[in-house]
Amino acid sequence: MSQTLQSVRGMNDILPDEAEFWELFEDTIRSWLKAYGYRPIRMPIVEPTPLFKRAIGEVTDIVEKEMYSFEDSLNGEQLTLRPEGTAGCVRAVIQHGLANQAPRRLYYIGQMFRHERPQKGRYRQFHQVGVESIGFAGPDIDAEMILMGARLWADLGLDGIELQINSLGQPEERAQHRAALIAYFEENAEILDEDAKRRLYTNPLRILDTKNPALQDMCAAAPKLIDYLGEASLAHFEGVQRVLRDAGVPFVVNPRLVRGLDYYNLTVFEWVTDKLGAQGTVCAGGRYDGLVEQLGGKPTPACGFAMGVERLIALIKESGGEPTNPAPDVYLVHQGVDASRLAFRVAEGLRDQGINVLLHCGGGSFKSQMKKADGSGATFAVVIGDDEAVSGEAQLKSLREDGVAQRKLKVDDLAEAIIGQLIDSDEEE
Ligand code: HAM
Repeated sequence: MSQTLQSVRGMNDILPDEAEFWELFEDTIRSWLKAYGYRPIRMPIVEPTPLFKRAIGEVTDIVEKEMYSFEDSLNGEQLTLRPEGTAGCVRAVIQHGLANQAPRRLYYIGQMFRHERPQKGRYRQFHQVGVESIGFAGPDIDAEMILMGARLWADLGLDGIELQINSLGQPEERAQHRAALIAYFEENAEILDEDAKRRLYTNPLRILDTKNPALQDMCAAAPKLIDYLGEASLAHFEGVQRVLRDAGVPFVVNPRLVRGLDYYNLTVFEWVTDKLGAQGTVCAGGRYDGLVEQLGGKPTPACGFAMGVERLIALIKESGGEPTNPAPDVYLVHQGVDASRLAFRVAEGLRDQGINVLLHCGGGSFKSQMKKADGSGATFAVVIGDDEAVSGEAQLKSLREDGVAQRKLKVDDLAEAIIGQLIDSDEEE
């Protein structure tokens, strides 16, 4: 026997029980996004590699070590499986002239790929719900995006997700801070680890993001960006905080929140839970006013965030959320050639009336089909044998304990009877 093939490490199948849960989650997500005026956009999963290098930054973990990049063997193009959605979304906005019709509120849901070490909550293929607003300059949209998060957690019945915010200021403010930071790290050169030394002159800000406990105290005392922010940046940050306070959304200002992608300026934020172990950030984002221009568009302010779907689903389950398995209304049992022909007609007719039907396929005795009907969770079995086929009738049998007794009906009367009983049982519940 040949060896069975497995999925790629860190890339998971989502089986029907789980996938149904995902669909329910996505339904909630879509209506939540609609309530805030967001419209869908779908970008390719593969983009030219230079897009990510330019957008995310050459000296970032994602670009340095996590991208699935390859050469198209047919034309030599350098391509990458998208590690995130913002770069592709902004590329699409520029390419199709959407920025000219800004402001725009856009969202996408889909796979992202990062070659990280897989662990709970961290996968090589994962899914994001990404939300981007293009063309808004003020702190109001940053704040609204954060309020959106708060509302979603409430809609999903999640609590205890902490909001951390920070301001990264503007590039020139960051440049001053960067110079001060390099000087400070140089003074503390003997404490730096290899990673920090490597980043000292390329991306010193990222040193603050280190997980190395030996660097924590030194990083805590490092020059803080907030002390280098000018009046306008501080006012923007204050503007965001004011809306959050007015809305009663608690937050923590975390001066060490720097994010792992280089395109951000001003507001950045993360929603973090302690219920998922090490991978506790369920949603993260911020403002990226320079990115549209950097990717070849006209200067256009923008802001966005993305949520990790796997992490949120894990959190919903952890918080006791139960997936509800949508059972069919009717399981259609049939035996005999004429009965099968009628069964197809009946099934389609019932579906025309909005009734969900699982039509038995694969033959078998009435008994074994009835077992499957019971196991399906359907509310009713509709049973058609050749006798019924001749008279154009079917047996309607309730599969619920408290349901009405089995009866024979003309097939044309089935839909009305089923709908009537479905409504009655809904009212009783
Ligand atoms: P990010 O922080 O890299 O931001 O990712 C956003 C979220 O995706 C994370 O908070 C996490 O929930 C989830 N995530 C990231 N990597 C993994 C992984 N390996 N496995 C499972 N979940 C993961 C961005 O991607 C930005 N594009 C967000 C953004 C949109 N900023 C502005 N607009």
